[in-house]
Amino acid sequence: MKILAIDTSCDDTSIAITKNRNLIANVFWSKIKVYEKWGGVVPTEAKRQHIEFLPKALEKAFDDASDATNGAIKSMSDIDFIAVTYGPGLAIALEAGISKAKELATKYNKPIIAVNHMVGHIYSNLVRDETGTSYSGVNDFEFPLLALTISGGHTDLYLMKNHLQFKHIGYTIDDAIGEAFDKVGRMLGLPYPAGPKIEALAKEGDENAFEFPRPMANSDDYRWSYSGLKTAVLYTIKKLVGDYEDRPDKKKFKIEDVSDKLTDQQIRDIAASFQKAAVDALLMKVKKALGEFKPKILVVGGGVVANSHLREKLNEVCSDADVDLYYPKPIWLCTDNAAMVAIAGYYYTKDGRIVKDIEKLDRIPNLRIE
Ligand code: KG4
Ligand code: ZN
Repeated sequence: MKILAIDTSCDDTSIAITKNRNLIANVFWSKIKVYEKWGGVVPTEAKRQHIEFLPKALEKAFDDASDATNGAIKSMSDIDFIAVTYGPGLAIALEAGISKAKELATKYNKPIIAVNHMVGHIYSNLVRDETGTSYSGVNDFEFPLLALTISGGHTDLYLMKNHLQFKHIGYTIDDAIGEAFDKVGRMLGLPYPAGPKIEALAKEGDENAFEFPRPMANSDDYRWSYSGLKTAVLYTIKKLVGDYEDRPDKKKFKIEDVSDKLTDQQIRDIAASFQKAAVDALLMKVKKALGEFKPKILVVGGGVVANSHLREKLNEVCSDADVDLYYPKPIWLCTDNAAMVAIAGYYYTKDGRIVKDIEKLDRIPNLRIE
């Protein structure tokens, strides 16, 4: 089975081609002037980029696929299914991918599989290279399993008893963990997305320099909260630089203006202490869930699992609980990509989940895992 997958949920324009679950081509175009100075992705810019890059990415994907298969897969006529992300994500970015999928499906008479991007992040663990070797180390899921998705918009825990059967166990009541990295990064004057930069700064910092809270640590459930942690970092910074309101010019405190008043070492220490608190808070609940649900394996997906401190701590927690841990090893497979959409799509087809009326296929920006 040969699948062409498209993901345009956010700012990465990504196309992948798989053959029987092996990745044959994997193309990205990303992050070109799509960010406001610090704030995040500019949707209209992301859309413009997707529309411009999708045709080029498609061409490159078939060039690569042709090289990898000695010409056996070289054009749309060699493809069986088109998998496309229809949510969650930025509405106008999703639309760009969906309309490309519809155009190809109509022109070449191919069926469409509409894939949930977060299911994709979970199934990123089953992506295999062209020789059939899994990038995460697991060849197929063993059930029951726990799946943790940690990204810019999500912090969720699911119990899976079979392929594509999800029970929502845990979630954040406010910000997602990746969002907390990005917002704290903004306070420290780092460009978006800040996760990788905080990780790098934290390596040089003292993680015990500041004592930040672990919100929800005492709640007897699987809920997280990252907004309080972010506020605690803000208060610490205010204390370090002195609240502007106390100053003679009475200038209002603006977080954008203060990062240059912190020393480099203070920035590194805040990054390290914040990262430790964010990871601790996440893992307290993961540990509890491993004890209660006794899964065969834990799979993790989403941009934040690129973080090496988190990987190290996850390893400890899983080895204590005697549960096998899997996450995609290459960073490009943790963050947004179409390879995971192709693999999720493969399992959707096994489940008969093909779009019946292509005309009616529409983006669902706040799509949840059902
Ligand atoms: O999965 P993803 O690429 O996009 C979403 O679906 O959200 O995740 C992006 C998020 C951003 O918040 C980014 O700051 C975070 O993942 N991230 C990291 C790291 N790399 C990416 N967070 C912490 N440490 C990292 N190394
Ligand atoms: Zn994502």
